[in-house]
Amino acid sequence: MNTNAALYGDLERILVSREEIAEAVKKLGKQLTEDYADRAPVMVGILKGAVVFFADLIREIDLPLDIDFMSISSYGSSTKSSGVVRILKDLDRDITGRHVIVVEDIVDSGLTLSYLKGVLETRKAASVSIVTLLDKPARRKAPLEVQYSCFQIPDAFVVGYGLDYDEKYRNLPDIGVLHPRIYSENP
Ligand code: IMP
Ligand code: MG
Repeated sequence: MNTNAALYGDLERILVSREEIAEAVKKLGKQLTEDYADRAPVMVGILKGAVVFFADLIREIDLPLDIDFMSISSYGSSTKSSGVVRILKDLDRDITGRHVIVVEDIVDSGLTLSYLKGVLETRKAASVSIVTLLDKPARRKAPLEVQYSCFQIPDAFVVGYGLDYDEKYRNLPDIGVLHPRIYSENP
């Protein structure tokens, strides 16, 4: 057990444990291996939140695949996205004719990914599907089809396993609900 008291003390509760995450990632890897059999997909990780999930997931997929990354900035406060999106780092390689699997940490309003999906489709990918570790369906503002989602969660601000608040908590191995006192201390 990782007992990083400085970080765990800021959580209200653990929402998804490392064991539950590991099991879900394994299952998803198996599913993608079946669904993409005989194809060599490009897995696109969205920096920085998805990196931990991405690193675990690709090792559960038994297919030849490429990896690439994009970094997107969504203007807004640190706990809410505004839907105005800017690409900070683009893909290194052309995706024309490729089967693209976008890997995201969490879908909240859906604004970031519906914008990104549109961008990738204009580049003539053969297909674009979306994989997310967490989904907050109650908060959706943009219509977005999510093909693979590991956990549906309630409307709470969560951190850990790659997800941050103000760049902190990404290294927590579990996912937890951040204690509201942390926002009020940092308005
Ligand atoms: P959307 O455009 O509202 O779907 O925003 C998705 C992005 O907002 C995610 O990639 C995260 O970076 C961030 N985000 C949304 N909800 C949370 C959360 O509960 N914890 C940490 N980051 C979040
Ligand atoms: Mg993100």
